[in-house]
Amino acid sequence: MQDYHVFLEEILIPAEELQTRIAELGMEISKDYHGKNLHMICILRGGVMFLADLMRHVTLPHTIDFMAVSSYGTGARQSTGQVRIALDLKEDIHDRDVLLVEDIVDSGYTITSVLEFLATRHPRSLQVCTLLDKAERREVDVPIHYRGFVIPNKFVFGYGLDLDEYYRNLPFIGTVNPDKYQPPE
Ligand code: PRP
Repeated sequence: MQDYHVFLEEILIPAEELQTRIAELGMEISKDYHGKNLHMICILRGGVMFLADLMRHVTLPHTIDFMAVSSYGTGARQSTGQVRIALDLKEDIHDRDVLLVEDIVDSGYTITSVLEFLATRHPRSLQVCTLLDKAERREVDVPIHYRGFVIPNKFVFGYGLDLDEYYRNLPFIGTVNPDKYQPPE
């Protein structure tokens, strides 16, 4: 596996900047959800780092759960945007104030499908918090209530986001130099 220094084009968002913004989001969420039944749902796997850091800045008592989705394949996803629920929630969300926590909204298909799916279970409220918003790539309108950063249309990795499943552990968001990156065999 390559050392990331080989293909790192630039550090788009340094670790300190991520942490500062996540603390702000946590404070905002704590204020807005005062008196509510906050239940944060993380979409695996990219959102895990963000959820873990964000919840440490949410000062209200709250609960968490996880779900996973997978696309029906590139062609199908492009034409229909549908995703399949690969791992369902453990807990009932009826009457809870659900906040979906994502690492990135790109085309918007994932969040759109997940919101439709969750709405059928009648949460009391349903909102979206994403760390990154690659707005230029949006194909369907997505209601984003909390957003960390709007980023350019570049290939990003680190802080939960992978390159062929690796490098999720890095504490910053970096961009890839495609001429230097070699996918694993
Ligand atoms: C990424 C990300 C979002 C989705 C966003 O997940 O975590 O769930 O893509 O893209 P969209 O707005 O175009 O639907 P990915 O499928 O890479 O899985 P991962 O979280 O396991 O890395």
